[in-house]
Amino acid sequence: MKGVILAGGLGKRLYPLTKITNKHLLPIYNKPMIYYPIETLVEAGIKDILIVTGGNHAGEFLRLLGDGHQFGLKHINYTYQEGEGGIAEALGLAEHFADNDKIVVILGDNIIEKSIKKAVEDFREQPRGAKVMVQKVPDPERFGVVEFDDKMRISGIVEKPKKTKSNYIVTGIYMYDNQVFDIVKTLKPSGRGELEITDVNNAYLKKGELTYSILKGWWTDSGTFDSLHRANILVTKKIKKK
Ligand code: G1P
Repeated sequence: MKGVILAGGLGKRLYPLTKITNKHLLPIYNKPMIYYPIETLVEAGIKDILIVTGGNHAGEFLRLLGDGHQFGLKHINYTYQEGEGGIAEALGLAEHFADNDKIVVILGDNIIEKSIKKAVEDFREQPRGAKVMVQKVPDPERFGVVEFDDKMRISGIVEKPKKTKSNYIVTGIYMYDNQVFDIVKTLKPSGRGELEITDVNNAYLKKGELTYSILKGWWTDSGTFDSLHRANILVTKKIKKK
């Protein structure tokens, strides 16, 4: 299984912090943000990693991460997303890298407390389809909200609904088989002009091939002032507790 970290975008919600750098290079306590998703993948046993970046500061990733040996990697793969076509468009750029293997995708601003190893192992055994990591949050309207049927099976995912049907959301950690690239090619831009990852997940759901795992420990994104602040507090507490 291979890993893909999506670290493009213009980070507009963090302007002016992102005027002269990429969001994923901003600090979370004592490390740049991008370190955390790399460590999450490496800890889960994934050693073949692609970073999809973009914008004006892409070269800085190479200067910062180099060949990845500080994470125990032999090398890191990089690719470049032009413009802001959305998460699913960025993912489409990983087709050549995936080369028919299954992939674990993590958004570059998603930071977690615990391990995803067990879910990754479960997905390795899953014959086909996709798996999403979900979590209960107090502010689901900011995310892709999960709807369940009476047997707690996912019945739908709605991106940032005004009225939410549950407090469970899809975090930025996804696992896909190689059908994902054909699905991405069928997508149309959403209201915000992007190819949505929620549409990819709903396509798998329609085929009956979407599973989920509940993510243990805390989880946060860090793409807004409040969530960036929260990420810093959570990581600081975790490190000081050790
Ligand atoms: C994206 C996804 C959303 C998901 C979230 C997790 O939101 O569209 O479904 O819940 O990441 O971080 P965005 O950060 O693009 O608003």
